[in-house]
Amino acid sequence: MSALRVNTGEGREPSPASEPLLRVAGLEAVYGASIAALHHIDLTVRPGEIVALLGSNGAGKTTTLKAISNLLPAQRGKVSRGEIHFDGHDVLKKSPSALARLGLVQVLEGRHCFRTLSVEENLITGGLGRSSSRREIAEDLEKVYAIFPRLKEKRKSRAGLASGGEQQMTAIGRALMTRPRLLVLDEPSMGLAPLTVQAIFKALAELNESAGLAILVAEQNAAVALRFAHRVAVIENGTSVVNESAAEFRRRSDVQSFYLGGGATIASGEAGEVLLQQQQISNKSAHSTF
Ligand SMILES: Nc1ncnc2c1ncn2[C@@H]1O[C@H](COP(=O)(O)OP(=O)(O)OP(=O)(O)O)[C@@H](O)[C@H]1O
Ligand SMILES: [Mg+2]
Repeated sequence: MSALRVNTGEGREPSPASEPLLRVAGLEAVYGASIAALHHIDLTVRPGEIVALLGSNGAGKTTTLKAISNLLPAQRGKVSRGEIHFDGHDVLKKSPSALARLGLVQVLEGRHCFRTLSVEENLITGGLGRSSSRREIAEDLEKVYAIFPRLKEKRKSRAGLASGGEQQMTAIGRALMTRPRLLVLDEPSMGLAPLTVQAIFKALAELNESAGLAILVAEQNAAVALRFAHRVAVIENGTSVVNESAAEFRRRSDVQSFYLGGGATIASGEAGEVLLQQQQISNKSAHSTF
């Protein structure tokens, strides 16, 4: 059980005095001419913080993340009101690639990898995006392999033949090769076995702790996200309804069940550990870890 206690967000609150790295205020967004997807989103991520963005299907998590990387125009969507600032830059005036060069990097939902390239070639494409030198790429590859040793074993394999967990690690590793300051992840747990999800979140939490990497992660799997997050934002029907510390949110099981449904309620302490263990054991026979 002790492994589950390592590197959780509890007790590691970054200084509340820090200026936000990301600030989203009064955000509204539409698709096409009139499909209103976001009505009012307020959200901040401070340097060194892990923020979990929670909400049910269709709440607006992906739309919020795409707005943050200025990717909505590619979906025939647009921000119709509000502001998004990353490290003082107006996100809506920057291209997604310019934002990536500034350190705002997103791993889209669905583990996008170049299927015919090897795992290592996929990782290298992340380094090329920021015009890294050969030496920097080699150094960064070793760092990614230290975080995800499984990728080192699989480095010559075609990404398309890798397991779901390995592909998710490859997609995250490629994002890390761009040396982000804020890593934005859309549902990294989707379709993966609980032990794999745990390994991915643990690696992200260690990076957050060792390198101060700020992370904004949208998740339907509230249980795992809440264990590693410092703060929580909940979106309901395109509106942010909760913005508070993860510790406070974990304590308020009534609020969890109100916004996330009874099934998502996080038992705290020992009960939570047991719940996660049971979930892992019951899935172990059905899935391999990677
Ligand atoms: N490309 C699109 N065109 C039109 N409407 C869209 C598009 N993408 C999303 N929507 C709508 O916007 C709303 C928010 O969707 P979004 O994908 O942001 O939710 P989500 O919280 O990420 O949901 P999920 O948990 O299912 O991923 C939904 O009503 C959805 O139907
Ligand atoms: Mg989504």
